[in-house]
Amino acid sequence: MDEVTPDEAFLTVYSDLAREGPGMPADVAWALYVAGTPTAGRIMDAGCGSGADTVTLAKERPAAQIEAVEQIGQYVAAAQKRCAPFGARVQVRQGDMAQITGPYDLLWGAGALYFRGVTEGLRQGRDALAPGGAVAFSEACLLPNPSANALAFWSQYPQVTNAEGIRARVAAAGYRSLGERMVIGAPWEAYYTSMSARIAALRPTAHGSLRDALDEAEAEITRWKAAPSEIAYLLMVVAPE
Ligand SMILES: C[S@@+](CC[C@H](N)C(=O)[O-])C[C@H]1O[C@@H](n2cnc3c(N)ncnc32)[C@H](O)[C@@H]1O
Repeated sequence: MDEVTPDEAFLTVYSDLAREGPGMPADVAWALYVAGTPTAGRIMDAGCGSGADTVTLAKERPAAQIEAVEQIGQYVAAAQKRCAPFGARVQVRQGDMAQITGPYDLLWGAGALYFRGVTEGLRQGRDALAPGGAVAFSEACLLPNPSANALAFWSQYPQVTNAEGIRARVAAAGYRSLGERMVIGAPWEAYYTSMSARIAALRPTAHGSLRDALDEAEAEITRWKAAPSEIAYLLMVVAPE
């Protein structure tokens, strides 16, 4: 492979994965239920990546209008391909989730809200919600008494807090919790198993930036393996006060 930029190398490693962060279809189904999203509601998948959850949203709410927005063109193309069987009721476009207008009954953001910060993202999302609408998001979460290995895993995300800290950021945005649950164990294992396969496939011909990106991805997996029962996202469903 020719020399690539660090950004291109990152995208090479993270393309062709089933999803771009830990999560399961059951998490989506749970959030739709807790949020009370109407059968024929309007749903936004913000930061949809390659569209794994967009597909689940479409299957779980077969009469809903679903939009998905993603900033990276490569992921947009993958998500559009995956969602094509649903026809016009599922629309995936390239764009900035800060610009969405709605109104939506559910704003779903798996592993994506943290790019803007939970409080800021929720504040901005408020104007895009329909009356009675809700936001579901997953956010890095420290469990009580985290080990040194758990803290090392999150060392590149210094904003990480425990569940109490996430709840405080939700309250600061003027939202209340409708429900929460941990994303821990199996979803992370599935995510890192697919990433390991991707690394193994790319490794033989990798050099330069791509080799660096593979090393970094592998180091992340090693850090997760040192504390798999402690690495969690908190999935929250919240609504404006
Ligand atoms: C950790 S990935 C999760 C992707 C997907 N939700 C999933 O769970 O597989 C976060 C995604 O959010 C996208 N993203 C981050 N900031 C964004 C923004 N301002 N507008 C649109 N997409 C954004 C990233 O490009 C990335 O694909």
